[in-house]
Amino acid sequence: MEIVKVVADMQRRGETLRNQGSRIGLVPTMGYLHEGHASLIRKAKELSDVVVTSIFVNPTQFGPDEDFERYPRDFERDKAIAAKSGADILFCPEPAEMYQEGYRTVVEPGAVSTILEGNIRPNHFRGVAAVVAKLFNITKPHVAVFGQKDAQQAFIIQQMVRDLNFDVLVVVAPIVREQDGLAMSSRNVYLKGDERKNALVLSRSLVHAGERVKTGETSVKKIKEEMLKILSGGNPTSIDYIAFVHLKTFEEAQTIESPDVLIVLAVRFGTTRLIDNAIVSVN
Ligand code: PAJ
Repeated sequence: MEIVKVVADMQRRGETLRNQGSRIGLVPTMGYLHEGHASLIRKAKELSDVVVTSIFVNPTQFGPDEDFERYPRDFERDKAIAAKSGADILFCPEPAEMYQEGYRTVVEPGAVSTILEGNIRPNHFRGVAAVVAKLFNITKPHVAVFGQKDAQQAFIIQQMVRDLNFDVLVVVAPIVREQDGLAMSSRNVYLKGDERKNALVLSRSLVHAGERVKTGETSVKKIKEEMLKILSGGNPTSIDYIAFVHLKTFEEAQTIESPDVLIVLAVRFGTTRLIDNAIVSVN
């Protein structure tokens, strides 16, 4: 696996690969890789000839009081996981390489970036959209793979690709979970003591919702109440949001009639903030 740290080198590498007729797959990450990231790399490998995995803890998507400084990092371990999963090139620039002196441009994803995650984390999705746009221009991928774990992020990136005519196929891969149901996340290492066990209420509440929908319940209000009860059982510090939205628009769903309802939630345990989601279908 090649390691590339300089933007111009990566651009040249991408150009050469394209000229040779190779199909490039990109998996953007912030490192501290786990099986969720590995599944995206394997998916990219299926869909392309050369897989570029980027590792960049992007400062512009963190708020001033967020965990940028303490975000977990382990480059040696990441290298081993990326290589084993099938990455051919690891692109891992320093912040000063990505954001040169005088960087000013903003990529504004619009209304959907101000609700749910965007409401709690102002400017987060601007940072995500800009860095993903830069990564597309730097690595020149034919296909880019993102995780359903960050459902609103995946939605915003698909919208950006459509709106700005990026010639990149965006593929969204399913959430990978621990055996007990906890969605894998680099931030799970923050969970202390009972918080790890308590955090299981996220996936449990989503499974419960899925079962209630399958048995014919269509009231969002009712299912939400039941989910809140399950979530409360995990002693959360706060429930930032729990929302039922249409998968295709991210607009709030009033009832569960369509097969495309997505339940998204964000919950804090101590200082750790976790997100999870599930698509619920009527049949
Ligand atoms: P990061 O949190 O490292 O996630 C990188 C990719 O892995 C994202 O597409 C995310 O949705 C996916 N992912 C995370 N946990 C997953 C899981 N349990 N199962 C499946 N996929 C999972 O998301 C980011 O980084 C950044 O915002 C980034 C897109 C790299 C821009 O900086």
